[in-house]
Amino acid sequence: MTRVALMASGSGTNALNLLERAGDYPNVRIDTVIVDTMSSPLPEILGEKFPEVEVKRILPMGGLRGEDRRREHETRILEVLRARGTQYILLAGYMRIIGGTLLGAFVNRIVNIHPSLLPLYPGVDSYRRAFEDGVTESGVTLHLVDEGVDTGPVLFQESFPRYSTDTLQGFIQRGKELEWKLYPKILEALNSGSLR
Ligand code: GRF
Repeated sequence: MTRVALMASGSGTNALNLLERAGDYPNVRIDTVIVDTMSSPLPEILGEKFPEVEVKRILPMGGLRGEDRRREHETRILEVLRARGTQYILLAGYMRIIGGTLLGAFVNRIVNIHPSLLPLYPGVDSYRRAFEDGVTESGVTLHLVDEGVDTGPVLFQESFPRYSTDTLQGFIQRGKELEWKLYPKILEALNSGSLR
């Protein structure tokens, strides 16, 4: 059994989708979710839909800055993950850079989903930037997390078309649907042991 934690900052549609799909993968258990913002509705939603999952809202501490702040925040996250026996972390819209504390504890065991065909459009607002550049296709990438921003080795990548009639909203929606389809491939790989 591989024990998995999710980390999310926003609306959490990927996190929710992964939890909904996890039942298809008997060797994987998503039993912990870390949320790092007050604005994310995930704790309330998961409390109702998945009461067996431990959801922790862990915010960075005020007063600290830069690397000190990241280290202190990640140390508290790591305490929870250690207590839960977490083996893999799946970032699902987690909007902070992962620092040395978590990277060192989970070497090659943190996966991120990024809304572009990396190495194109790393960083934030990738759908919008690609759309505004007039791309004819974009995509979704699942990659291992390293110390860079969206630079780690690619595990899965798939493209989707941009049509001339697309609005930005329609383009993003097509991308999100691909995200929900693609991210469970990590559960499949963990389930079969092929990610190790
Ligand atoms: C997704 O577009 C994901 O690719 C990116 O952050 C967004 C999170 O969306 N890393 P959601 O909160 O899962 O809906």
